[in-house]
Amino acid sequence: MEKPQGNRESFATKFGVIAATAGSAVGLGNIWRFPYLTGEYGGAAFLVVYLVFVVAIGIPVMLSEFVIGRSAQLNPYGAFKKLAPRKPWYLVGLMGVAAAFMILAFYTTVAGWTLEYIYQAVIGGFPGKDGVQLGEMFSHFRDHSWRPLLWFFLFMGMTAGIIVFGVKKGIEKSTVIMMPLLFLILVVLCIRSLTLPGSLEGIRFLFQPDFSKIDSSAILAALGQVFFSMSIGMGTLITYASYFPKSDNLLGTSFSVAFTDTLVAILAGVAIFPAVFSFHIEPGYGPGLVFVTLPGIFQQMPGGSFFAVLFFLLLALAALTSTISVLEVIVAFFSEELKMTRKAATWTAAGTVSILGLMSTLAWNPMMKGVTLFGKNVFEVLDFTSANILLPMGGFFIVLFVAWFFGRQKAASELSNEGTLKTGYIPFYMFLIRYIAPVALAIIFLNGIGLLRF
Ligand code: PHE
Repeated sequence: MEKPQGNRESFATKFGVIAATAGSAVGLGNIWRFPYLTGEYGGAAFLVVYLVFVVAIGIPVMLSEFVIGRSAQLNPYGAFKKLAPRKPWYLVGLMGVAAAFMILAFYTTVAGWTLEYIYQAVIGGFPGKDGVQLGEMFSHFRDHSWRPLLWFFLFMGMTAGIIVFGVKKGIEKSTVIMMPLLFLILVVLCIRSLTLPGSLEGIRFLFQPDFSKIDSSAILAALGQVFFSMSIGMGTLITYASYFPKSDNLLGTSFSVAFTDTLVAILAGVAIFPAVFSFHIEPGYGPGLVFVTLPGIFQQMPGGSFFAVLFFLLLALAALTSTISVLEVIVAFFSEELKMTRKAATWTAAGTVSILGLMSTLAWNPMMKGVTLFGKNVFEVLDFTSANILLPMGGFFIVLFVAWFFGRQKAASELSNEGTLKTGYIPFYMFLIRYIAPVALAIIFLNGIGLLRF
Protein backbone atom coordinates (compact mmCIF):
# COMPACT_ATOMS: atom_id res chain seq x y z
CA MET A 1 0.00 0.00 0.00
CA GLU A 2 1.13 3.52 0.72
CA LYS A 3 4.85 4.07 0.95
CA PRO A 4 6.14 7.10 2.86
CA GLN A 5 7.85 8.73 -0.07
CA GLY A 6 8.80 8.17 -3.65
CA ASN A 7 6.14 5.83 -4.85
CA ARG A 8 3.36 7.89 -3.31
CA GLU A 9 -0.32 7.51 -4.17
CA SER A 10 -1.99 10.36 -6.04
CA PHE A 11 -5.43 11.23 -7.36
CA ALA A 12 -6.02 9.68 -10.77
CA THR A 13 -8.19 12.25 -12.51
CA LYS A 14 -8.77 15.99 -12.61
CA PHE A 15 -12.38 15.42 -11.57
CA GLY A 16 -11.09 13.34 -8.67
CA VAL A 17 -8.87 16.19 -7.51
CA ILE A 18 -11.78 18.61 -7.55
CA ALA A 19 -14.38 16.24 -6.09
CA ALA A 20 -12.09 15.33 -3.18
CA THR A 21 -10.95 18.87 -2.45
CA ALA A 22 -14.35 20.49 -2.92
CA GLY A 23 -15.69 17.60 -0.84
CA SER A 24 -13.45 18.67 2.01
CA ALA A 25 -14.55 22.27 1.70
CA VAL A 26 -18.27 21.61 1.28
CA GLY A 27 -19.60 20.42 4.60
CA LEU A 28 -21.56 21.30 7.68
CA GLY A 29 -19.89 24.69 7.35
CA ASN A 30 -21.89 25.39 4.19
CA ILE A 31 -25.23 23.85 5.03
CA TRP A 32 -25.47 24.23 8.79
CA ARG A 33 -23.18 27.11 9.75
CA PHE A 34 -23.40 29.47 6.77
CA PRO A 35 -27.21 29.76 6.72
CA TYR A 36 -27.51 30.46 10.43
CA LEU A 37 -24.70 33.01 10.36
CA THR A 38 -26.29 34.69 7.36
CA GLY A 39 -29.59 34.68 9.23
CA GLU A 40 -28.02 36.21 12.32
CA TYR A 41 -26.04 38.86 10.49
CA GLY A 42 -28.75 40.20 8.27
CA GLY A 43 -28.62 38.23 5.03
CA ALA A 44 -27.17 39.57 1.78
CA ALA A 45 -24.74 42.07 3.33
CA PHE A 46 -23.04 39.23 5.19
CA LEU A 47 -22.81 37.32 1.93
CA VAL A 48 -21.07 40.26 0.23
CA VAL A 49 -18.45 40.54 2.99
CA TYR A 50 -18.00 36.78 2.87
CA LEU A 51 -17.37 36.87 -0.90
CA VAL A 52 -14.77 39.62 -0.57
CA PHE A 53 -12.87 37.52 2.00
CA VAL A 54 -13.04 34.40 -0.15
CA VAL A 55 -11.26 36.21 -2.95
CA ALA A 56 -8.83 38.36 -0.95
CA ILE A 57 -7.85 35.85 1.74
CA GLY A 58 -9.41 32.43 1.22
CA ILE A 59 -8.03 31.74 -2.24
CA PRO A 60 -4.50 33.02 -1.44
CA VAL A 61 -4.31 30.84 1.70
CA MET A 62 -5.65 27.87 -0.25
CA LEU A 63 -3.09 28.36 -3.01
CA SER A 64 -0.33 28.61 -0.42
CA GLU A 65 -1.36 25.26 1.07
CA PHE A 66 -1.39 23.74 -2.41
CA VAL A 67 2.13 25.05 -3.06
CA ILE A 68 3.45 23.62 0.21
CA GLY A 69 1.71 20.26 -0.12
CA ARG A 70 2.46 19.54 -3.72
CA SER A 71 6.07 20.59 -3.59
CA ALA A 72 6.80 18.59 -0.42
CA GLN A 73 4.57 15.55 -1.16
CA LEU A 74 4.16 14.90 2.53
CA ASN A 75 1.80 15.34 5.49
CA PRO A 76 1.79 18.88 6.99
CA TYR A 77 4.41 18.15 9.66
CA GLY A 78 6.72 16.32 7.25
CA ALA A 79 6.15 18.98 4.59
CA PHE A 80 7.36 21.87 6.73
CA LYS A 81 10.26 19.75 7.96
CA LYS A 82 11.31 18.95 4.43
CA LEU A 83 10.92 22.48 3.04
CA ALA A 84 12.53 24.17 6.06
CA PRO A 85 15.00 21.72 7.60
CA ARG A 86 16.21 22.49 11.12
CA LYS A 87 13.79 25.42 11.41
CA PRO A 88 10.82 25.60 13.78
CA TRP A 89 8.28 25.79 10.94
CA TYR A 90 7.39 22.12 11.51
CA LEU A 91 5.50 23.38 14.56
CA VAL A 92 2.91 24.84 12.17
CA GLY A 93 2.43 21.35 10.74
CA LEU A 94 2.17 19.86 14.18
CA MET A 95 -0.43 22.45 15.12
CA GLY A 96 -2.38 21.39 12.03
CA VAL A 97 -2.36 17.75 13.15
CA ALA A 98 -3.53 18.84 16.61
CA ALA A 99 -6.30 20.92 15.01
CA ALA A 100 -7.33 17.88 12.98
CA PHE A 101 -7.89 15.90 16.21
CA MET A 102 -9.99 18.65 17.70
CA ILE A 103 -12.05 19.44 14.62
CA LEU A 104 -12.74 15.81 13.86
CA ALA A 105 -13.91 15.22 17.44
CA PHE A 106 -16.60 17.93 17.54
CA TYR A 107 -17.46 17.80 13.84
CA THR A 108 -18.23 14.09 14.01
CA THR A 109 -20.55 14.82 16.93
CA VAL A 110 -22.72 17.03 14.71
CA ALA A 111 -22.30 14.64 11.79
CA GLY A 112 -23.70 11.92 14.04
CA TRP A 113 -26.75 14.07 14.81
CA THR A 114 -27.50 14.19 11.09
CA LEU A 115 -27.80 10.38 11.10
CA GLU A 116 -30.30 10.53 13.98
CA TYR A 117 -32.29 13.08 11.99
CA ILE A 118 -32.29 10.94 8.86
CA TYR A 119 -33.59 8.12 11.05
CA GLN A 120 -36.25 10.35 12.63
CA ALA A 121 -37.32 11.64 9.22
CA VAL A 122 -37.66 8.08 7.93
CA ILE A 123 -39.69 6.78 10.87
CA GLY A 124 -41.88 9.92 10.85
CA GLY A 125 -40.63 11.36 14.14
CA PHE A 126 -41.42 15.00 13.27
CA PRO A 127 -45.06 15.22 12.19
CA GLY A 128 -47.48 16.41 14.86
CA LYS A 129 -44.83 18.22 16.89
CA ASP A 130 -44.83 21.99 17.28
CA GLY A 131 -41.74 24.22 17.54
CA VAL A 132 -41.40 23.80 21.29
CA GLN A 133 -41.74 20.04 21.09
CA LEU A 134 -39.17 19.85 18.33
CA GLY A 135 -36.79 21.89 20.49
CA GLU A 136 -37.38 19.48 23.36
CA MET A 137 -36.91 16.52 21.07
CA PHE A 138 -33.51 17.85 20.03
CA SER A 139 -32.31 18.65 23.53
CA HIS A 140 -33.60 15.37 24.92
CA PHE A 141 -31.74 13.46 22.23
CA ARG A 142 -28.54 15.44 22.70
CA ASP A 143 -28.52 15.81 26.50
CA HIS A 144 -30.23 12.78 27.92
CA SER A 145 -29.82 9.83 25.61
CA TRP A 146 -26.97 7.60 24.58
CA ARG A 147 -27.91 7.61 20.93
CA PRO A 148 -25.52 10.45 19.99
CA LEU A 149 -22.66 8.13 20.95
CA LEU A 150 -23.93 5.36 18.76
CA TRP A 151 -24.21 7.71 15.79
CA PHE A 152 -20.80 9.19 16.54
CA PHE A 153 -19.13 5.80 16.35
CA LEU A 154 -21.06 4.85 13.25
CA PHE A 155 -19.98 8.05 11.50
CA MET A 156 -16.36 7.66 12.61
CA GLY A 157 -16.48 4.06 11.38
CA MET A 158 -17.75 5.16 7.96
CA THR A 159 -15.02 7.78 7.77
CA ALA A 160 -12.30 5.30 8.66
CA GLY A 161 -13.89 2.70 6.37
CA ILE A 162 -13.25 5.00 3.42
CA ILE A 163 -9.81 6.25 4.47
CA VAL A 164 -8.46 2.75 4.98
CA PHE A 165 -8.76 2.16 1.22
CA GLY A 166 -6.31 4.93 0.48
CA VAL A 167 -6.22 7.95 -1.78
CA LYS A 168 -7.51 6.55 -5.09
CA LYS A 169 -9.72 3.70 -3.98
CA GLY A 170 -10.97 5.38 -0.82
CA ILE A 171 -11.06 9.16 -1.05
CA GLU A 172 -11.30 9.66 -4.80
CA LYS A 173 -13.68 6.84 -5.55
CA SER A 174 -16.12 7.84 -2.82
CA THR A 175 -16.08 11.60 -3.43
CA VAL A 176 -16.63 11.37 -7.19
CA ILE A 177 -19.91 9.62 -6.35
CA MET A 178 -20.93 11.58 -3.28
CA MET A 179 -20.30 15.10 -4.59
CA PRO A 180 -22.54 14.91 -7.68
CA LEU A 181 -25.22 13.23 -5.55
CA LEU A 182 -24.96 16.03 -3.00
CA PHE A 183 -25.37 18.59 -5.73
CA LEU A 184 -28.40 16.87 -7.16
CA ILE A 185 -30.13 16.70 -3.77
CA LEU A 186 -29.36 20.35 -3.14
CA VAL A 187 -30.90 21.41 -6.46
CA VAL A 188 -34.05 19.39 -5.74
CA LEU A 189 -34.36 21.07 -2.33
CA CYS A 190 -33.87 24.51 -3.88
CA ILE A 191 -36.66 23.88 -6.35
CA ARG A 192 -38.97 22.71 -3.55
CA SER A 193 -38.21 25.79 -1.49
CA LEU A 194 -38.56 28.25 -4.36
CA THR A 195 -41.96 26.90 -5.36
CA LEU A 196 -43.48 27.53 -1.93
CA PRO A 197 -45.88 30.48 -1.65
CA GLY A 198 -44.16 33.65 -0.47
CA SER A 199 -40.70 32.28 -1.18
CA LEU A 200 -39.58 35.51 -2.83
CA GLU A 201 -39.24 37.14 0.57
CA GLY A 202 -36.45 34.70 1.42
CA ILE A 203 -34.66 35.38 -1.85
CA ARG A 204 -34.81 39.07 -1.15
CA PHE A 205 -33.37 38.50 2.30
CA LEU A 206 -30.49 36.54 0.80
CA PHE A 207 -29.70 38.78 -2.16
CA GLN A 208 -30.71 42.33 -1.26
CA PRO A 209 -27.94 43.75 0.90
CA ASP A 210 -28.62 46.01 3.85
CA PHE A 211 -25.19 47.23 4.86
CA SER A 212 -26.37 48.84 8.06
CA LYS A 213 -26.33 45.30 9.47
CA ILE A 214 -22.58 45.00 9.03
CA ASP A 215 -20.64 45.70 12.18
CA SER A 216 -17.24 44.46 13.27
CA SER A 217 -18.58 41.23 14.72
CA ALA A 218 -20.27 40.41 11.40
CA ILE A 219 -16.98 41.03 9.61
CA LEU A 220 -15.08 38.79 11.98
CA ALA A 221 -17.71 36.08 11.75
CA ALA A 222 -17.45 36.20 7.95
CA LEU A 223 -13.69 35.85 8.02
CA GLY A 224 -13.86 32.94 10.47
CA GLN A 225 -16.49 31.31 8.29
CA VAL A 226 -14.26 31.60 5.21
CA PHE A 227 -11.54 29.64 7.04
CA PHE A 228 -13.83 26.98 8.34
CA SER A 229 -15.76 26.57 5.13
CA MET A 230 -12.77 26.45 2.80
CA SER A 231 -10.95 23.93 5.06
CA ILE A 232 -7.94 26.22 5.23
CA GLY A 233 -5.45 26.92 7.98
CA MET A 234 -4.68 23.46 9.33
CA GLY A 235 -3.07 21.43 6.60
CA THR A 236 -6.03 19.50 5.20
CA LEU A 237 -5.27 21.07 1.86
CA ILE A 238 -1.52 20.58 2.31
CA THR A 239 -2.27 16.89 2.70
CA TYR A 240 -4.66 16.68 -0.25
CA ALA A 241 -2.34 18.74 -2.48
CA SER A 242 0.42 16.28 -1.71
CA TYR A 243 -1.69 13.81 -3.73
CA PHE A 244 -2.31 16.18 -6.68
CA PRO A 245 -0.57 15.13 -9.90
CA LYS A 246 2.36 17.36 -10.84
CA SER A 247 0.47 18.37 -13.99
CA ASP A 248 -2.47 19.82 -12.05
CA ASN A 249 -3.11 23.54 -12.50
CA LEU A 250 -3.14 24.72 -8.87
CA LEU A 251 -4.73 28.11 -9.57
CA GLY A 252 -7.49 26.48 -11.62
CA THR A 253 -8.15 23.94 -8.87
CA SER A 254 -8.29 26.64 -6.20
CA PHE A 255 -10.85 28.57 -8.27
CA SER A 256 -12.98 25.50 -8.90
CA VAL A 257 -12.95 24.54 -5.24
CA ALA A 258 -13.65 28.06 -3.97
CA PHE A 259 -16.43 28.43 -6.54
CA THR A 260 -18.06 25.11 -5.64
CA ASP A 261 -17.80 25.82 -1.92
CA THR A 262 -19.40 29.25 -2.29
CA LEU A 263 -22.06 28.02 -4.67
CA VAL A 264 -23.10 25.27 -2.27
CA ALA A 265 -23.30 27.76 0.61
CA ILE A 266 -25.51 30.07 -1.47
CA LEU A 267 -27.68 27.20 -2.69
CA ALA A 268 -28.05 26.04 0.91
CA GLY A 269 -29.34 29.55 1.62
CA VAL A 270 -31.72 29.26 -1.33
CA ALA A 271 -32.95 25.89 -0.05
CA ILE A 272 -33.50 27.23 3.47
CA PHE A 273 -34.53 30.92 3.52
CA PRO A 274 -37.46 30.91 1.09
CA ALA A 275 -38.94 28.05 3.13
CA VAL A 276 -38.22 29.87 6.40
CA PHE A 277 -39.92 33.04 5.15
CA SER A 278 -42.74 31.16 3.52
CA PHE A 279 -43.70 29.81 6.95
CA HIS A 280 -43.14 33.15 8.69
CA ILE A 281 -40.30 32.05 10.90
CA GLU A 282 -37.51 34.26 12.24
CA PRO A 283 -34.36 33.70 10.12
CA GLY A 284 -31.91 34.49 12.92
CA TYR A 285 -32.51 31.29 14.83
CA GLY A 286 -28.85 30.38 15.36
CA PRO A 287 -27.29 26.89 15.42
CA GLY A 288 -30.69 25.26 16.01
CA LEU A 289 -31.92 26.44 12.60
CA VAL A 290 -31.22 23.12 10.95
CA PHE A 291 -32.15 20.69 13.75
CA VAL A 292 -35.15 22.48 15.23
CA THR A 293 -36.57 25.05 12.82
CA LEU A 294 -36.29 23.06 9.62
CA PRO A 295 -38.05 19.89 10.85
CA GLY A 296 -40.90 22.19 11.86
CA ILE A 297 -41.03 23.62 8.37
CA PHE A 298 -40.77 20.29 6.58
CA GLN A 299 -43.80 18.86 8.28
CA GLN A 300 -45.93 21.78 7.15
CA MET A 301 -45.07 21.47 3.48
CA PRO A 302 -46.45 19.04 0.92
CA GLY A 303 -44.12 16.05 0.63
CA GLY A 304 -42.35 17.23 3.77
CA SER A 305 -41.18 13.86 5.10
CA PHE A 306 -39.53 13.03 1.81
CA PHE A 307 -37.75 16.38 1.71
CA ALA A 308 -36.70 16.03 5.34
CA VAL A 309 -35.01 12.71 4.56
CA LEU A 310 -33.30 14.31 1.55
CA PHE A 311 -32.14 17.31 3.55
CA PHE A 312 -30.54 15.32 6.37
CA LEU A 313 -29.01 12.94 3.85
CA LEU A 314 -27.50 15.99 2.18
CA LEU A 315 -26.02 17.09 5.50
CA ALA A 316 -24.61 13.65 6.20
CA LEU A 317 -23.02 13.38 2.75
CA ALA A 318 -21.51 16.84 3.02
CA ALA A 319 -20.13 16.00 6.45
CA LEU A 320 -18.65 12.67 5.34
CA THR A 321 -16.64 14.13 2.47
CA SER A 322 -15.21 16.58 5.03
CA THR A 323 -14.50 14.15 7.88
CA ILE A 324 -12.49 11.92 5.56
CA SER A 325 -10.28 14.89 4.65
CA VAL A 326 -9.61 15.65 8.31
CA LEU A 327 -8.93 12.03 9.24
CA GLU A 328 -6.55 11.78 6.28
CA VAL A 329 -4.35 14.50 7.82
CA ILE A 330 -3.80 12.36 10.91
CA VAL A 331 -3.44 9.13 8.93
CA ALA A 332 -0.84 10.65 6.59
CA PHE A 333 1.03 11.90 9.66
CA PHE A 334 0.93 8.53 11.43
CA SER A 335 1.88 6.54 8.37
CA GLU A 336 4.68 8.79 7.20
CA GLU A 337 6.17 9.93 10.47
CA LEU A 338 5.52 6.91 12.66
CA LYS A 339 5.96 4.48 9.75
CA MET A 340 2.64 2.75 10.32
CA THR A 341 0.78 0.89 7.60
CA ARG A 342 -2.30 2.73 6.33
CA LYS A 343 -4.53 0.23 8.04
CA ALA A 344 -2.87 0.62 11.42
CA ALA A 345 -2.67 4.38 11.02
CA THR A 346 -6.38 4.63 10.14
CA TRP A 347 -7.66 2.67 13.09
CA THR A 348 -5.19 4.23 15.52
CA ALA A 349 -6.24 7.69 14.35
CA ALA A 350 -9.95 6.91 14.49
CA GLY A 351 -9.51 5.31 17.91
CA THR A 352 -7.60 8.19 19.46
CA VAL A 353 -9.91 10.83 17.99
CA SER A 354 -12.85 8.88 19.39
CA ILE A 355 -11.63 9.40 22.96
CA LEU A 356 -11.92 13.15 22.48
CA GLY A 357 -15.06 12.65 20.39
CA LEU A 358 -16.69 10.70 23.19
CA MET A 359 -16.27 13.65 25.53
CA SER A 360 -17.47 16.08 22.89
CA THR A 361 -20.55 14.01 22.10
CA LEU A 362 -21.45 13.66 25.78
CA ALA A 363 -20.68 17.31 26.49
CA TRP A 364 -24.34 18.09 27.33
CA ASN A 365 -24.98 14.84 29.18
CA PRO A 366 -25.39 15.32 32.96
CA MET A 367 -22.30 13.12 33.35
CA MET A 368 -20.06 15.56 31.48
CA LYS A 369 -21.96 18.81 31.85
CA GLY A 370 -19.82 19.95 34.75
CA VAL A 371 -16.62 19.69 32.72
CA THR A 372 -16.23 23.24 31.45
CA LEU A 373 -13.54 25.76 30.62
CA PHE A 374 -14.39 29.46 30.72
CA GLY A 375 -18.04 28.48 30.84
CA LYS A 376 -17.84 26.38 27.67
CA ASN A 377 -18.44 22.63 27.59
CA VAL A 378 -16.05 20.23 25.86
CA PHE A 379 -17.78 20.49 22.48
CA GLU A 380 -17.80 24.28 22.60
CA VAL A 381 -14.15 24.45 23.69
CA LEU A 382 -13.09 22.26 20.76
CA ASP A 383 -15.23 24.21 18.31
CA PHE A 384 -14.08 27.58 19.59
CA THR A 385 -10.37 26.83 19.91
CA SER A 386 -10.03 25.17 16.54
CA ALA A 387 -12.12 27.55 14.44
CA ASN A 388 -11.29 30.83 16.16
CA ILE A 389 -7.71 30.22 17.24
CA LEU A 390 -5.96 27.35 15.49
CA LEU A 391 -7.25 27.91 11.93
CA PRO A 392 -6.54 31.65 11.71
CA MET A 393 -3.19 31.13 13.42
CA GLY A 394 -2.35 28.30 11.03
CA GLY A 395 -3.42 30.41 8.06
CA PHE A 396 -1.29 33.27 9.27
CA PHE A 397 1.87 31.13 9.47
CA ILE A 398 1.12 29.32 6.22
CA VAL A 399 1.01 32.54 4.18
CA LEU A 400 4.01 33.96 6.02
CA PHE A 401 5.94 30.78 5.26
CA VAL A 402 5.29 30.92 1.52
CA ALA A 403 5.63 34.72 1.29
CA TRP A 404 8.78 35.23 3.30
CA PHE A 405 10.55 31.90 3.71
CA PHE A 406 9.77 29.59 0.80
CA GLY A 407 9.85 32.60 -1.46
CA ARG A 408 8.49 33.82 -4.70
CA GLN A 409 10.82 31.87 -6.96
CA LYS A 410 10.06 28.40 -5.63
CA ALA A 411 6.37 29.24 -5.29
CA ALA A 412 6.30 30.44 -8.90
CA SER A 413 7.98 27.28 -10.09
CA GLU A 414 5.35 25.12 -8.31
CA LEU A 415 2.43 27.27 -9.49
CA SER A 416 3.62 27.28 -13.10
CA ASN A 417 4.39 23.54 -13.14
CA GLU A 418 8.01 24.40 -13.72
CA GLY A 419 7.37 27.08 -16.27
CA THR A 420 4.72 25.34 -18.38
CA LEU A 421 1.73 27.44 -17.22
CA LYS A 422 1.19 31.18 -17.49
CA THR A 423 1.54 32.90 -14.13
CA GLY A 424 0.97 36.61 -14.68
CA TYR A 425 -1.05 36.70 -11.47
CA ILE A 426 1.90 35.87 -9.23
CA PRO A 427 2.87 39.45 -8.27
CA PHE A 428 -0.72 40.01 -7.15
CA TYR A 429 -0.77 36.72 -5.23
CA MET A 430 2.53 37.59 -3.53
CA PHE A 431 1.15 41.00 -2.55
CA LEU A 432 -1.91 39.37 -0.99
CA ILE A 433 0.06 36.79 1.00
CA ARG A 434 2.80 39.20 2.05
CA TYR A 435 0.61 41.98 3.37
CA ILE A 436 -3.16 41.70 3.07
CA ALA A 437 -3.76 38.19 4.38
CA PRO A 438 -1.34 38.30 7.35
CA VAL A 439 -2.64 41.65 8.58
CA ALA A 440 -6.27 40.61 8.29
CA LEU A 441 -5.51 37.31 9.99
CA ALA A 442 -3.59 38.92 12.81
CA ILE A 443 -6.66 41.04 13.46
CA ILE A 444 -9.14 38.16 13.66
CA PHE A 445 -6.74 36.09 15.66
CA LEU A 446 -6.20 38.78 18.27
CA ASN A 447 -9.91 39.34 18.38
CA GLY A 448 -10.54 35.60 18.67
CA ILE A 449 -8.42 35.27 21.77
CA GLY A 450 -9.80 38.49 23.19
CA LEU A 451 -6.66 40.61 23.04
CA LEU A 452 -8.25 43.03 20.65
CA ARG A 453 -11.86 44.07 20.94
CA PHE A 454 -13.81 46.05 18.40
N1 PHE B 1 -14.82 22.84 5.37
C1 PHE B 1 -15.56 21.94 6.18
C2 PHE B 1 -17.00 22.43 6.21
O1 PHE B 1 -17.34 23.46 5.68
C3 PHE B 1 -15.01 21.81 7.56
C4 PHE B 1 -13.55 21.58 7.63
C5 PHE B 1 -12.73 22.46 8.31
C6 PHE B 1 -12.96 20.50 7.00
C7 PHE B 1 -11.37 22.30 8.37
C8 PHE B 1 -11.59 20.32 7.02
C9 PHE B 1 -10.78 21.23 7.72
O2 PHE B 1 -17.84 21.80 6.79
